[in-house]
Amino acid sequence: MTDRLTIRRPDDWHVHLRDGAMLAHVAKYTAAQFARAIIMPNLSPPVTTAEEGAAYRDRIRAATPGMDFTPLIVAYLTDASDPDQMARGHGEGVFTAAKLYPAHATTGSAHGVTDIAKIMPVLERMAEIGMPLLIHGEVTDHDVDIFDREAVFIERTLKGLVRDLPTLKIVFEHITTSEAVDFVMSAPANVAATITPQHLHINRNAMLVGGIRPHAYCLPVAKREQHRLAVRAAAVSGSPKFFLGTDSAPHAVHTKEAACGCAGIFNAPYALESYVAVFDEEDALDRFEGFASEHGPNFYGLPLNGGTITLERGETVVPERCGEVVPFHAGETLGWRLV
Ligand code: DOR
Ligand code: ZN
Repeated sequence: MTDRLTIRRPDDWHVHLRDGAMLAHVAKYTAAQFARAIIMPNLSPPVTTAEEGAAYRDRIRAATPGMDFTPLIVAYLTDASDPDQMARGHGEGVFTAAKLYPAHATTGSAHGVTDIAKIMPVLERMAEIGMPLLIHGEVTDHDVDIFDREAVFIERTLKGLVRDLPTLKIVFEHITTSEAVDFVMSAPANVAATITPQHLHINRNAMLVGGIRPHAYCLPVAKREQHRLAVRAAAVSGSPKFFLGTDSAPHAVHTKEAACGCAGIFNAPYALESYVAVFDEEDALDRFEGFASEHGPNFYGLPLNGGTITLERGETVVPERCGEVVPFHAGETLGWRLV
């Protein structure tokens, strides 16, 4: 039995660090676990220009003083996004990627894209310059059941996009369904997906059985058990198409425990301990380094990190609170710890 695992330093390919006081509180958790992170741009107002991106990067650096951590900034796509400006932001090294939020799909998506046709010139330019497109893959149609919104997005939007822009690098973010796993597996090499710890650990029962549990609510919402098992199989498969993206999304406790609670699970403080437990349960510890530290940079075309981290078997007691935020696994004891 492996009791200690030393791997190349990992990255988080999808995280919400917020801004202001919340940024000051949460950034250190991500910077303590990861060398780099793809920072989501759904601030209010969203990060749309290179100037805003550079200023946000500076604020993140100021929130992680003395830590060996590189924030990778993402442009928020709107109906008004401009191909030249996007190319300039990428060329200047500010924007690593751009994020497509279908308008009103989730938190901070009110300025998102209302119709993908409106941003085709931007996406064509991104394909030309090798800038990845990160997608929140859910339809927003009120007629579509919330548990079906990811699968319907594949049929209505994603298949056409992959067909029409065959060279565009696409990351299908935080996949939650067997349909998404199957789609990514059978798509060409320019299509990949991130996987969160919560979608490896919980199914929808965690949210709804025995009372409504707002801290298990995020978007895309956790699905049935058969989907969790499919996502787990993908994560531990060793396929270079699947990599680590926590989607850590902190909300102050009073905004979660409310009549209309916010979507988002704050998993940053113990993300690696959470993921490695899954790889251990699946008898796939030898595949953890690929998922956490290699597949992401290889897909983005970025260098692998130098240095290593070590995880070992042992108790990690997850507190009930980290400041004003309730962490994922609150009150549980995880079977691995970060040395
Ligand atoms: O649960 C979520 N929370 N899903 C998202 O897509 C956004 C995120 C947030 O920003 O809170
Ligand atoms: Zn997210």
